[in-house]
Amino acid sequence: MEIRLWRELLIPYELAVKELVMKFNQLKKEHREKDMYSPIEQVSGRVKSINSILEKMQRKNVSWEELEEKVEDIAGVRIICQFYEDIEKVAQLIRRRSDMKVLEEKDYITHMKESGYRSYHIIISYGTETLEGRKEIRAEIQIRTLAMNFWATIEHSLQYKYKGNMPAHLTERLTSAADSILQLDAEMSSVRNEVMDAQNSMLHQSNLVADILNNIENLYHFSNKREVAKIQDEFYRIYSQKDLAQLERFHRELDIIAEGYRAQAITLEEVE
Ligand code: GTP
Ligand code: MG
Repeated sequence: MEIRLWRELLIPYELAVKELVMKFNQLKKEHREKDMYSPIEQVSGRVKSINSILEKMQRKNVSWEELEEKVEDIAGVRIICQFYEDIEKVAQLIRRRSDMKVLEEKDYITHMKESGYRSYHIIISYGTETLEGRKEIRAEIQIRTLAMNFWATIEHSLQYKYKGNMPAHLTERLTSAADSILQLDAEMSSVRNEVMDAQNSMLHQSNLVADILNNIENLYHFSNKREVAKIQDEFYRIYSQKDLAQLERFHRELDIIAEGYRAQAITLEEVE
């Protein structure tokens, strides 16, 4: 038998997982920076262990030649959303991208698995570049809510413990827990708009404060220190009033002041 170089085989998959996790985290960050609610709440990824790859090859009767085509989750990424509605939003974000090609979508949400498992899977083809050159690999992206993830995590541990021979009373418990998860997600969806509003305004405030303090710091470097100290005191006074509209007004005014100083600085340069 030919020697299998596992480490070498897995290199592009390791790269893919790192890149994909980074890209989805970046999407989350971009939403936040634009004061926008992010449909992505958490991102994680892993390369399947050699043990699990071997186990799957045996279970599905996959040959070495077919390994990279048939075991689609050697590279796996999981995207956790707060709400059921966010899942489709994330799927759309993925479909729109030019750096990943959707090969297949498995909707275990409208078609729940017999176990009670719910999740949306997208199999993509993804280009990697390593020392060995370019290689297209497959990756599995699982998209699910926090609640669905809770269920899947618990069920996965039990499945592992009982290796396919789960006692009936446990299976029943899990099925009934899956129903509760479905209900929970529906309940949470009914407050989604309010939660989104709250999160948007939290983000907005935190971006505002960062912006204001950044502006004050810039002013400090090229204008009258006593003036800047007064501006800073004013900021802390307004901040303590917990009034977003006041904070916005202060932000606008500070922008105008900063603009004034910048104009002054430019005029001075011209004179010199
Ligand atoms: P495997 O289930 O991994 O053998 O792959 P498959 O080719 O049958 O694909 P499928 O879409 O059924 O499952 C892909 C992945 O989804 C699995 O590796 C698990 O991570 C997850 N999954 C599928 N079914 C279940 C389930 O009943 N419970 C849990 N906890 N996870 C599941
Ligand atoms: Mg399966």
